[in-house]
Amino acid sequence: KLLIKGWWLPVGGGDYSVFAGAPGITWIEPPDLVITPGGNLSVNCSTDCDQPQFIGLETQLVKTQVDNGTRWKVFLLKNITQDTLLHCFANCFGDAQMIYSTTVTVIQPPEPVTLESLPQWIPVGQNFSLRCQVWSGKPRKNLTMALLRGPQELSRQAVSEQDPGKAAEVTFTVTASREDHGVNFSCRAGLDLRAQGLGLYQKSSSIPTSLGAPRLLAPKLLEVGKKETLRCDIDKLFPVENAQIHLSLGGRNLNTTVIRDQDMLRATAIVVIAEGEKEGQWELTCNVTLADQNRQVQENLTVYKSPRDPVPIVMGVLLALGLAAMAGAIATLCLWQNLRKSSYQPQTLPLQDRTPMEGPEMGP
Ligand SMILES: *[C@@H]1O[C@H](CO)[C@@H](O)[C@H](O)[C@H]1NC(C)=O
Ligand SMILES: *[C@@H]1O[C@H](CO)[C@@H](O)[C@H](O)[C@H]1NC(C)=O
Ligand SMILES: *[C@@H]1O[C@H](CO)[C@@H](O)[C@H](O)[C@H]1NC(C)=O
Ligand SMILES: *[C@@H]1O[C@H](CO)[C@@H](O)[C@H](O)[C@H]1NC(C)=O
Ligand SMILES: *[C@@H]1O[C@H](CO)[C@@H](O)[C@H](O)[C@H]1NC(C)=O
Ligand SMILES: *[C@@H]1O[C@H](CO)[C@@H](O)[C@H](O)[C@H]1NC(C)=O
Ligand SMILES: *[C@@H]1O[C@H](CO)[C@@H](O)[C@H](O)[C@H]1NC(C)=O
Ligand SMILES: *[C@@H]1O[C@H](CO)[C@@H](O)[C@H](O)[C@H]1NC(C)=O
Ligand SMILES: *[C@@H]1O[C@H](CO)[C@@H](O)[C@H](O)[C@H]1NC(C)=O
Repeated sequence: KLLIKGWWLPVGGGDYSVFAGAPGITWIEPPDLVITPGGNLSVNCSTDCDQPQFIGLETQLVKTQVDNGTRWKVFLLKNITQDTLLHCFANCFGDAQMIYSTTVTVIQPPEPVTLESLPQWIPVGQNFSLRCQVWSGKPRKNLTMALLRGPQELSRQAVSEQDPGKAAEVTFTVTASREDHGVNFSCRAGLDLRAQGLGLYQKSSSIPTSLGAPRLLAPKLLEVGKKETLRCDIDKLFPVENAQIHLSLGGRNLNTTVIRDQDMLRATAIVVIAEGEKEGQWELTCNVTLADQNRQVQENLTVYKSPRDPVPIVMGVLLALGLAAMAGAIATLCLWQNLRKSSYQPQTLPLQDRTPMEGPEMGP
């Protein structure tokens, strides 16, 4: 079986016929590389030629041989900032040389996307085109463009493999509906390299959706039968009018009052834990949804019941306090009167201090 991968090149010019029928292949692992700018790469250049006289890697990059075997060599390439061609070659059968070439693609996240401005008015039922442009975004074969209506993705197209040095254009056709009135349309370019372990790079034309972490504001302790306010806030949210917020306590959805202010969203719920509900840990959850994103925070609140018959105790305390206060007042009065009696020269006091003393002063 004859496998030819890559192509054959003559060495030192001369007779092409010497290559005919020479068996073997050379190849590079990993093939069709995609790399982030400035990345390092280790490539394995190998051949199945029985006794290769030489194996090498031709590249403009600085290379270091780090490992080798009889039929392979591993090279380390550092700080790759530009697309580059790699040629792995092996000399087999004297002057025959096999070469396998591959491209290293340095990714470029998509750059600002523009959406061609729309006519101000479009009649309902009429088809209209939306043209979105994207710069950069490489490799193009992994680049897609989505059309969004508000936060909702309407459709998605692959960006054809045009020259990444130029802007690429994608056209969507939409039929105008009544619901589209006043709605913002936008484009979002996505370079999806998650399969290559490099992540998803996105860029939107005008309506980026962003979602931070919500914050819960609630007392740690909830007393049965007592009214409490539970709150969840989230800010730096855009577009806030498309976001949904929900509060739940112990798995039950709460009725909330929702306030939207600029880029802030707030849900407030007033709760009273009914008599007979279980005491202990209740989980409070705040769930915020914006477009396809979702954030959630949770906190455990402790529900407790105040000790039985609280009324008599409170009254008792009040009574005791009242008695103590009265006793104190009488004591002060006596003391003051004693003091008055023992002093012949009345003291001049600042006006504001004198008023409360009038009572005893007028006394016998
Ligand atoms: C590449 O290697 C150099 C030196 O070994 C190191 O400083 C650098 O952080 C590496 N770059 C990446 C992207 O791993
Ligand atoms: C390089 O590739 C050859 C052939 O596939 C393999 O036998 C060898 O183990 C590889 N070397 C390393 C260090 O991965
Ligand atoms: C690896 O390379 C070294 C130095 O070039 C050489 O001496 C050695 O024989 C090579 N090992 C194999 C297994 O070819
Ligand atoms: C990587 O290469 C770029 C451009 O070639 C250079 O500006 C930069 O200093 C290099 N970085 C390192 C860590 O060598
Ligand atoms: C609008 O486009 C749809 C499909 O793209 C087509 O079925 C429909 O006939 C078009 N309507 C008009 C008014 O052109
Ligand atoms: C990117 O493109 C390559 C080649 O077409 C493909 O194998 C890979 O699955 C693509 N990745 C994603 C995430 O679509
Ligand atoms: C559309 O976008 C503009 C500017 O970004 C914003 O002021 C407006 O509220 C948005 N309208 C809707 C319905 O999202
Ligand atoms: C959060 O709320 C959204 C919308 O109501 C719902 O689809 C989603 O399942 C909720 N997430 C969790 C973890 O409950
Ligand atoms: C709340 O308590 C439950 C059970 O005690 C526990 O499973 C859960 O992880 C706690 N949640 C938080 C947010 O601490």
